[in-house]
Amino acid sequence: MRRVEEFPNLCVLDHPLIQHKLTHMRDERTSTRTFRQLLREISLLMGYEVTRNLPLALERIQTPLVTMDAPVIAGRKLAVVPILRAGNGMADGLLELIPGARVGHVGLYRDHDTHRPHEYLVKLPDSEGRTFILVDPMLATGHSAVHAVNVLLERGISREQIIFMALVAAPEGMRVFNEAHPDVPVYVASLDDHLNEQAYIVPGLGDAGDRLFGTK
Ligand code: URA
Repeated sequence: MRRVEEFPNLCVLDHPLIQHKLTHMRDERTSTRTFRQLLREISLLMGYEVTRNLPLALERIQTPLVTMDAPVIAGRKLAVVPILRAGNGMADGLLELIPGARVGHVGLYRDHDTHRPHEYLVKLPDSEGRTFILVDPMLATGHSAVHAVNVLLERGISREQIIFMALVAAPEGMRVFNEAHPDVPVYVASLDDHLNEQAYIVPGLGDAGDRLFGTK
């Protein structure tokens, strides 16, 4: 795990398996099928780190040999909240790791001209004692990520309950995110170089939703 001085809330998950798979996702020759599979695999691997600090509690169980107090995840556990539509691909990987997690959805689309998010759907599980992992592959301008965190905060979920997980972030987007939510941890596989004039991440991987679903 790599830290970046400018963004104290950012963790770059530089595990070799994650980096190897990300390279294949970036490659324009990679098919929709492989892209989808790799996003699922990377999300599962990232989930391992993202959930590292979940609190544990002891539960008394009986093994075939003895009674023991054994660790289990404490409290109401987790919710995975994909930002539609590309977030779905990451949620699938996380849910393989945490099959019991609740799933919420935040539907945002990005205005082609302003690059600003518009909200069309919010569905969330009850929040008490739950950690919410918001997922969206591309943290580009940062506006959708900020908006999605705001959606959770407006519904009474506290900042300490929120984690943001993306595949690739742009420094410009991280600055916007940190301005709004410096205390929300962000996990990414890569902090890329910059945003271009169309607000695409460079080098990036193109439009994550289109590549995931095979649309144009
Ligand atoms: N959304 C994408 O899918 N890709 C980008 O590079 C930026 C935003």
